[in-house]
Amino acid sequence: MKVSVQNISLTKFRCDLLIVNIFEKVKKLGGATGVIDDALENHITKLISSGEIEGKLGEKTLIHIFGNLPACRVVVVGLGKREEFDLDKARVAAAAGIRVGKQVKAKKVATIIHGAGIGGFDIAEAAQATVEGAILGAYEFDGHKSEKSEIRNPKSEIKELIIVEKDKRKIKNVKVGARIGEIVANAENNARDLVNSPSNKVTPTYFAKYAQKMAKAVGLKCTVLDPEKKGMMAIQAIAKGSKEPAKLVVLQTRASTRGPRIALIGKGVTFDAGGISLKPSKKLWQMKIDMAGAAAVVETMRAISQLKLKKNVIAVIPLTENMPGGGASKPGDVVSSLSGITTEIISTDAEGRMILADAITYAKRLGAKVIVDCATLTGGCITALGETASGIMGNSDKLIEDFEEAAEKTGEKIWHLPLFKEYKKYLRSTVADQKNCTEGMGASPSVGGTFLHKFVGDTPWVHLDIAGTANISIAKGYLKKGATGVPVRTLVEFLKA
Ligand code: BES
Ligand code: ZN
Ligand code: ZN
Repeated sequence: MKVSVQNISLTKFRCDLLIVNIFEKVKKLGGATGVIDDALENHITKLISSGEIEGKLGEKTLIHIFGNLPACRVVVVGLGKREEFDLDKARVAAAAGIRVGKQVKAKKVATIIHGAGIGGFDIAEAAQATVEGAILGAYEFDGHKSEKSEIRNPKSEIKELIIVEKDKRKIKNVKVGARIGEIVANAENNARDLVNSPSNKVTPTYFAKYAQKMAKAVGLKCTVLDPEKKGMMAIQAIAKGSKEPAKLVVLQTRASTRGPRIALIGKGVTFDAGGISLKPSKKLWQMKIDMAGAAAVVETMRAISQLKLKKNVIAVIPLTENMPGGGASKPGDVVSSLSGITTEIISTDAEGRMILADAITYAKRLGAKVIVDCATLTGGCITALGETASGIMGNSDKLIEDFEEAAEKTGEKIWHLPLFKEYKKYLRSTVADQKNCTEGMGASPSVGGTFLHKFVGDTPWVHLDIAGTANISIAKGYLKKGATGVPVRTLVEFLKA
């Protein structure tokens, strides 16, 4: 879907579908929707009076046009209650509109900017949110079906999304916002594709090649390392139960970038069977999503390059399967790591923290002054926060606040969980520096964070546990069931700020 901005009046624009909006309880239409209503001889007003249009968030009313406008159809999308409106609601409305476009097999869809008029938001931010909602809302995982369904048929795909703005003075800002929205939403959709893809396709080797290709396309430096040769024994402890070799991908923004080096680390377990501590079979197929942190990090790097962000960012992505092969690590084993810190493996299913440990050490050796890791780390985080929010932990209140601010803007909810020092004693081991998990005590996201903290030390750091948010079982707003691409947009927002 090509995105563009045009300085033209709505009543003159030829397209298959025109998206306008309305708040709840509005009786008298103004702004762009009012202009269209006038052209349609108050048809929209009549639909409001008759109760068909209520303006509820995500509501959509399709109107076919016969001659009064160059547009073939108009869809009126609801923005919900005006006092509850925010940019995330603009995304929901944009998604609702674009989905109607798909239904009616529109090729060329035009939209007004949601939230800039009486919504009162900054025009660039509103344009960004509108484009994001449209691109994220239009997402469909094509997968590997040999027969494409009607809706997936490329012939019925929307080719163009045009943001229509009649005020010439606003065009420059609208273009800036729309371009940012296009870049971050496409990056997030790419991450969704990676996460939705099966693990026999997305192996560590496939992922490493994907990162190399991406880096070449956008001008990032990319190195793929063999963790075994680099002495990354914690990664190897997980990888040795699988036939697939582990990889460590390092991506770097180019030398012209300034400022303290920020490291993004993403858990890349392309399939988590649990290892010898084998997971129950019922939901095992879902464990192809255990590389969602890695997918988010690689796509964040793409987005910041495309945005030409002049920041000194590196990505360190450990990739492996966690399988119960004959060579696999066993519960009770003691393994070393790149840092020299030793770990007693209690459960081989607590593998994410092991591979993150070596990635953290490597990032520190590369001079990272700030570390951000994201990982589908614990089922406990899903128990605590559900699919609604990611857990955030760390050793820097300032960094956590920065992330809370970024997430507020993107609508990707995060919730601060503690790293009380009391948790440390649950990882005490008699044979190693620490255990990889407790023998049954709760607080699992926090204990996972506590394990990582030992490798991070004093370097300012935040850990995002995205186990619940990376993949959702029920659609919400602009996101379909399945991979969400979380937290690409929040990482980009954090880096921008
Ligand atoms: N990949 C899982 C966590 C997970 C569970 C992600 C469900 C997404 C959905 C992780 O490697 C894991 O198995 N964690 C264990 C840790 C435990 C052994 C301390 C868990 O949460 O049970
Ligand atoms: Zn696991
Ligand atoms: Zn895992």
